[in-house]
Amino acid sequence: MDVAGYRIDRVDPTELPEAEQEAIARLWQVMGKELLPEEPARPMPAILARLRSKPKNQWSARIRARDAKGNVVGWMGGGRSLNEPENAHLIWSELQVHPDHRRKGLATALFREFVEACEGQHPSIVFMGMANDRVPAAEPFLRGIGATPGLPMKTNQLDIATVDRKQIGEWAKLDPAGYRIERIDGMVPDRLVPAYLAASNGMNDAPKGDLKMADWKLTVEQIRDRENWFKQVGAEWWLILAVNEATGEGAGFTEVTYDPKQPWVIWQQGTAVIDPHRGHRLGLWMKATASSASVPRRPSSARATRIRTRRCSASTRSSGSRSRGSRRCGRPRSPTCAKASASPRKRPSRANATPAMTC
Ligand SMILES: CC(C)(COP(=O)(O)OP(=O)(O)OC[C@H]1O[C@@H](n2cnc3c(N)ncnc32)[C@H](O)[C@@H]1OP(=O)(O)O)[C@@H](O)C(=O)NCCC(=O)NCCS
Repeated sequence: MDVAGYRIDRVDPTELPEAEQEAIARLWQVMGKELLPEEPARPMPAILARLRSKPKNQWSARIRARDAKGNVVGWMGGGRSLNEPENAHLIWSELQVHPDHRRKGLATALFREFVEACEGQHPSIVFMGMANDRVPAAEPFLRGIGATPGLPMKTNQLDIATVDRKQIGEWAKLDPAGYRIERIDGMVPDRLVPAYLAASNGMNDAPKGDLKMADWKLTVEQIRDRENWFKQVGAEWWLILAVNEATGEGAGFTEVTYDPKQPWVIWQQGTAVIDPHRGHRLGLWMKATASSASVPRRPSSARATRIRTRRCSASTRSSGSRSRGSRRCGRPRSPTCAKASASPRKRPSRANATPAMTC
């Protein structure tokens, strides 16, 4: 249902003409700038590469709102993984309305269309989304549609210029007895897949808060799908794997992503050490190795000025990077998710709501 003065439609961005893809990307730039006014706008090529990508084994729906001039002023997109049976009910989503077009019912209308598009995907869909306390409108809106907080998160940022490289270098040489490190760049070789699958299970010990999310069971197909997606969007992915020398078993991992099209930021992704191997300083060793690999050595990342990571604020332990430059970027945020009804005028029932919001 359109809002007066606006046109709302479901689109597949990969099939839109270039000018319409760019119109969506311009909205994303505005939204990014609202969250991070202190840094440059996200470059168009980085956004367009994502809009034009086709993740494998993923169902998705994208709804846009345009004003009378054809400017894209609202967007809701999301989807679910088709090869992750344990979390087949989760639909990850994002919703954005241009600051000049708010409080006109656009987000409500976009959400309604999105829910309708998701009809039939799963008997008990849970919508997951993230909000940021830098845009306070998100929380009342999300609560209004029936979402409830699931897991507070916060974003930390390390300014690379302030890193104590000597200290990182020392940590990178910890070399705990009985373990070796494997550095993987872009694609996990077949010989290391079993070790990575085992190590990745460690992420299941990270807090899930009230999120209705089952443990992950990473598969080879999921690894290959992700590698393929990184290639499609032109992003780099580096994985550091700690392997138990005696058994060849994966003991832990940490991973980093970097998009040369947005050269100033490196993203620190997941880090985990599995239970039998905790207490050997593997987390610190791997993170220091990742930092020393990502900070000074990689020519592609030489222009990066910061490393950013998101973590749930429920956890109080950190595995390293105690740098003078480490700082929080945004307060812990409340979350969201909702089990929604597709009925056009009805808001989702609060009863089955679950959320998860972040930065
Ligand atoms: C949150 C957001 C999507 C809302 O978009 P919107 O088009 O203004 O929302 P709607 O007009 O449909 O608002 C519906 C209801 O939400 C609530 N709401 C929305 N913005 C609000 C605000 N700033 N303060 C209090 N309540 C608010 C109100 O109850 C509103 O109904 P009302 O206008 O009749 O009082 C928009 O502010 C936004 O894009 N924020 C940044 C991105 C984001 O945080 N997305 C949400 C996370 S998924």
